[in-house]
Amino acid sequence: MAKTVRAHTNIALIKYWGKADDQLRLPLMSSLSMTLDQFYTDTKIKPSTTGNHFFLNNVEQTGQSAQRVFTYLKKLQQHFNVTGPLSVYSTNHVPTAAGLASSSSAFAALAGAFCSYYQLDVTRKELSCLARLGSGSASRSIYGGFAVWQKGTDNASSYAYALDEKPQMDLHLLAIELNQQPKKLSSTGGMKQAQSSPLFKPWLARNEQEMAAMIAAIKENDFTKLGQLAELNASEMHAINLTAQPGFTYFEPDTIRAIKLVAQLRACGVECYYTIDAGPNVKVLCQLRNVKDVTNSFVSVFKNAKIVNASFGPGISCLD
Ligand code: DP6
Repeated sequence: MAKTVRAHTNIALIKYWGKADDQLRLPLMSSLSMTLDQFYTDTKIKPSTTGNHFFLNNVEQTGQSAQRVFTYLKKLQQHFNVTGPLSVYSTNHVPTAAGLASSSSAFAALAGAFCSYYQLDVTRKELSCLARLGSGSASRSIYGGFAVWQKGTDNASSYAYALDEKPQMDLHLLAIELNQQPKKLSSTGGMKQAQSSPLFKPWLARNEQEMAAMIAAIKENDFTKLGQLAELNASEMHAINLTAQPGFTYFEPDTIRAIKLVAQLRACGVECYYTIDAGPNVKVLCQLRNVKDVTNSFVSVFKNAKIVNASFGPGISCLD
């Protein structure tokens, strides 16, 4: 019997922002993430007699999002030489309030549900490769805690592994939703355009060094180093977007206000750092003792901001 598979969302502290191969979703750089406890996707696949279907939160999906799922399923079916129409049932426990992209948990759960449905015996490494084919960041959601996606050079060598699934680090991520508008440029589109920036190549050349420094910070349980490195890496990614030809940005005026608030809090001794993905919302990294102060400051400046306090989540699992 096919099982429901749960995968948690992850947020990159060293970002994946560029592909070497669009079809295989091979990245140009290695990346490192933190899996979150608060946000996840549950997915189950059942047989269908009426073609492929995709239900998200009990609503049948049509258009682009359904097409992306069907194209992905076809790719996996070809890979494993299996056939048949499928019905996919997903529930997203990624509150819109968090302003978090859900493709990492969505495609990791889908890859897991596919393997369960066809009773394919795959290792986590193989599952990571399969998830990557749906969305690059999904390769990391196979693992809990901290995960590293090593860029590799082909389909078999580009997978994520667990760096530390039960980290001792006192680390919280406050997901702050400032803006609920759907993003105008997808990650896939943004990372393609970013490569035209004159800053892109120098950033890429720094990837190994940034990865090594972040891995060292995690091993040394050094929150300050981790925060500084994460903030720098995110700023570099967004500087690259601004300097692409033509330039673009995911930032909104509130994103800049949030960046300044983080700097102000730090100046007042409340240690916190930001990271930002392909959207206007901000994630703030801090330690438990500062969660309250950071939350209160954001609520007082951004009256309508919705804030979710997340910490380390687990790897992929079967529910039933
Ligand atoms: C900024 O994994 O969504 O969140 O492979 O095209 O589906 P595709 O991209 P996706 O990109 C994530 C980009 C990011 C950084 C990251 O998660 O590493």
